[in-house]
Amino acid sequence: MSNELAEFIRAIPKAELHIHIEGSLEPALIFALAQRNGIALAYSSVEALRAAYAFTNLQSFLDIYYAGASVLITEQDFHDMAWAYFERAHADHVIHAELFFDPQTHTERGVDIGVVIRGLKRACDAARTQFGLRARLILCFLRHLSEAEAIATLDAAKPYLADIIGVGLDSSELGHPPEKFTRVFAMARELGLHVVAHAGEEGPPEYIWSALDVLQVERIDHGVRSIQDERLMQRLIASGMALTVCPLSNIKLCVFQQLGEHNLKRMLERGVRVTINSDDPAYFGGYLNENYLETAAALDLDRDQIIQLARNSIEAAFTTTSERRADLDTLAAYCMKA
Ligand code: ADE
Ligand code: ZN
Repeated sequence: MSNELAEFIRAIPKAELHIHIEGSLEPALIFALAQRNGIALAYSSVEALRAAYAFTNLQSFLDIYYAGASVLITEQDFHDMAWAYFERAHADHVIHAELFFDPQTHTERGVDIGVVIRGLKRACDAARTQFGLRARLILCFLRHLSEAEAIATLDAAKPYLADIIGVGLDSSELGHPPEKFTRVFAMARELGLHVVAHAGEEGPPEYIWSALDVLQVERIDHGVRSIQDERLMQRLIASGMALTVCPLSNIKLCVFQQLGEHNLKRMLERGVRVTINSDDPAYFGGYLNENYLETAAALDLDRDQIIQLARNSIEAAFTTTSERRADLDTLAAYCMKA
């Protein structure tokens, strides 16, 4: 890739729609928070922890990811984690970010959901004032737990609904199809929340169908297995359904063996509204710009395709009409002069 295209990619205004904030916890911060909170870790050093980041599938990652999140105790911890992400995102020219968080990972350990949300919200507000970066929160239900537990989590979040823009569904996909969460998603929609779900990361196209038809999601997180089902592809294209694709994550979790085999470009060229995202950047070897840059290099994406990806991210964001128009104007102004 030319230096010129790399520079264009680095500075293009973009939205990030698929980032698990607990997946932005860098090893150094995990150790600092463990020390601050008097928590013993199973690893003796930052290097030893990093050496454990060799994953064979989603579950092998989730086991380490949940262990890493166990150092988060206070409102300040959640703030500090999100703030570190916003510094990185701002450097990557992210103008709008929607952060997934997993309250059940914390409430299970006795941390109040209010502590989690207040800490994250304070960082979101600071990102807006200090960086002009607009940030929103999406509460994810852990799909390996029961629907009753998801409903209890939604109930516990009710005092904080003004601080949450939507709900999502994450954790172990295989064996936990979207329809397991039919009622809680209906409740969330009834509350006026946006709804998204991870589907088709490791799971089959049937999970994407049920996320669309049963949960009535507005975006599909990952969705890379859509390409195995031509009727589903037609549905995605016709409806303009966005996929929040996470290329480096897919490589680290062995969804594809190499970036050059990734189907992002094929889906983009078919007219699917594909976006690029980082998923769990502290674990998968890169924040948003590394995802753009490495994908562009491996798949030989051109300038117009980069613009399309950035535009897709802005169009698929949960923003108001005037916010979306402002973000599209920012993008257009950048493309005119760069
Ligand atoms: N939680 C954090 N990252 C995830 C991913 N890639 N898939 C499912 N659940 C997750
Ligand atoms: Zn994810």
